[in-house]
Amino acid sequence: MREEAARRRAASLRAEIEAHNRAYYELDAPTITDAEYDTLFRELQALEAENPALRSPDSPTQRVGGRSLAQFTPVIHAMPMLSIQTETDTGASGAEHFDARVRRELELSDADTPMEYAAELKFDGLAVSLRYEQGVLTQGATRGDGMTGEDVTQNLRTVRDIPLRLRSDADRIPPLLEVRGEAYMRRDDLARYNEKAAGRGEKLLLNPRNGAAGSIRQLDPAVAARRPLRFFAYGVGVCEGWTPPATHGELLRTLESFGFPVCEYRRIVRGWQALAAFHARMGALRPQLPFDIDGVVYKVNSLELQRRLGFRSREPRWAVAHKYPAEEARTRVEAIEVQVGRTGAITPVARLTPVFVGGVTIANATLHNADELFRKDVRTGDTVIVRRAGDVIPEIVGVVGAAGESAPEAPRSLPFAFPETCPECGSRVVREEGGAIFRCSGGLVCPAQVKGALIHFASRRAMDIEGLGEKLVEQLVEAGLVRTPADLYHLDVPRLAALARMGEKSAENLVAAIAQSRDTSLARFIYALGVRNVGESTARDLARHFGSLARLMEADAPALREAPDVGPVVAESILDFFAEAHNREVIQRLIAAGARWEENAGQANAPPGPLSGKTFVITGTLPGWTRDEARARIEAAGGKVASAVSAKTDYALAGSEAGSKLAKAQALGIALLDEAALRNLLEQGDA
Ligand code: IVH
Repeated sequence: MREEAARRRAASLRAEIEAHNRAYYELDAPTITDAEYDTLFRELQALEAENPALRSPDSPTQRVGGRSLAQFTPVIHAMPMLSIQTETDTGASGAEHFDARVRRELELSDADTPMEYAAELKFDGLAVSLRYEQGVLTQGATRGDGMTGEDVTQNLRTVRDIPLRLRSDADRIPPLLEVRGEAYMRRDDLARYNEKAAGRGEKLLLNPRNGAAGSIRQLDPAVAARRPLRFFAYGVGVCEGWTPPATHGELLRTLESFGFPVCEYRRIVRGWQALAAFHARMGALRPQLPFDIDGVVYKVNSLELQRRLGFRSREPRWAVAHKYPAEEARTRVEAIEVQVGRTGAITPVARLTPVFVGGVTIANATLHNADELFRKDVRTGDTVIVRRAGDVIPEIVGVVGAAGESAPEAPRSLPFAFPETCPECGSRVVREEGGAIFRCSGGLVCPAQVKGALIHFASRRAMDIEGLGEKLVEQLVEAGLVRTPADLYHLDVPRLAALARMGEKSAENLVAAIAQSRDTSLARFIYALGVRNVGESTARDLARHFGSLARLMEADAPALREAPDVGPVVAESILDFFAEAHNREVIQRLIAAGARWEENAGQANAPPGPLSGKTFVITGTLPGWTRDEARARIEAAGGKVASAVSAKTDYALAGSEAGSKLAKAQALGIALLDEAALRNLLEQGDA
């Protein structure tokens, strides 16, 4: 009788725990705390320990893994796990080719109605097959070579969103069913895992794909159990005593009803145009998805037509993968060099064996700063994974071999050492900001900093000196003609014309462009000075707030902090800059050379505009205005334009092809405007 009570209690605990698993993993809506969950779980574990007969393979306690394995047992797939043909054309024609091929093979004429397809995502994880006998998970296997995989049952049992028992009425349970799908890791789960792993001093996972594959092939299931793996079902293998529904779409819905997670981004569509539209839509969504995908998959929806189409060697004729450009690639670090920036910051840059990734060839990747370089421990000769997602600057994700993949064969070179003296001027290199930033202490003695300062000063959004680019600045500095921005205004045609590759005519043009740049605005002038931490938008804020250069130069820390968006760091940079006698002298010489702009009383005294106190973010292409025009209009009405969306943003002005800023604004519930709505706002002045 005691046994009977234990059996009933165990059954009810199992049901309860599985319900909480579903609430947590599938619905993202847990109804109890983690501690309460643990209590239930421990009770069940204790019951099973006391009564080993109660320990069934579908018990949730079996998810945490048992003993460690020496190696995996091979599994011969009863039905091969096929690969999938890839349509390499990333444009709309990838879908068109596939549709044409399917229609030709089915001998459909143009007059026939468009084919029905299931469109879904191509997940970037690891394909697995799950075998259910009488509704209970009995075996989980990797794909392997498609014919023979590895038995990873213990590890797959630790994946909480894989049902250990099919959820269905007893009489509808298939006696034998293999469910196929992808084990994967979400990006946020991976980041959280890595954060904890770093805290424990453990190895980090390189990316979700490697993370998923590495975790599934872990010999110690207890290790696998700690990895945040998830699963999406996308098909079936062998089934006996059960007739699948008529279409792929219905099959996925049935799998969902059995308790499998099926990705919500899927569509049943007609005709290739709709497939191409799905490809484009998912491509745009790709950066915001919580997991990695490398393309989309198109499948003929009717299972009967799938049977008629059949296979060609290892690939079905009824499906195709339509890929996106790879965001990651492997390559070798040829060297690590440092660059000295405009502010003297010394940044490590990895020179790479050129590799095609994210649609472009990458030969260099910045390592940002010392912290990042040391954390990733990138060394010359290492094989690394580089990533270029969307239009972001390429970065090194990590070193292959350092994250528990396979150990590198050859001994590695020594860790990178930062130079103690500046490679440009030989001045001492100092460490700043808790050691993360190495900076040359040479200031304007350092040609890299002089050149950087001049290039910035002349740039389009600063003083806008046409024709004065990087090459010419280098020549001018090296020829000793220019040491500070003020020197530019004393250049003359004969001296310029004497430079290599510079004719009389170009010299004249340059002198004219320099002269013309003297007429500027206060905001441009402040930006052109190159004060650390003062970008274009801050410069504009400062100009508007103070109205005159003299007032800005006299401002103390509290006065600076009154300007919009000026925090302690920016205030200090401004104070430091103007405290430097050399900088004040350059400013005097620039003014003496004729630099001029309009000044006013500043915003403190200005009448408030209709958009005063409102912060905007602009994203995408507007129909009637350029972004600069929209910005000017908002600012003229007293509003502020920030470069990034934050909780402080009042409005997001979105045009066509708006990207992640729009998504972020939507996520934060920020009011969205289009150009027409902005025009209204400007007219009425009422928010
Ligand atoms: S269907 C028809 N659907 O692609 C061939 N595969 O299959 C059976 N993959 O490594 C697979 N997402 O893991 C199918 N929605 C999806 C998929 C998908 C990713 C992977 C799969 C395998 C490769 C070839």
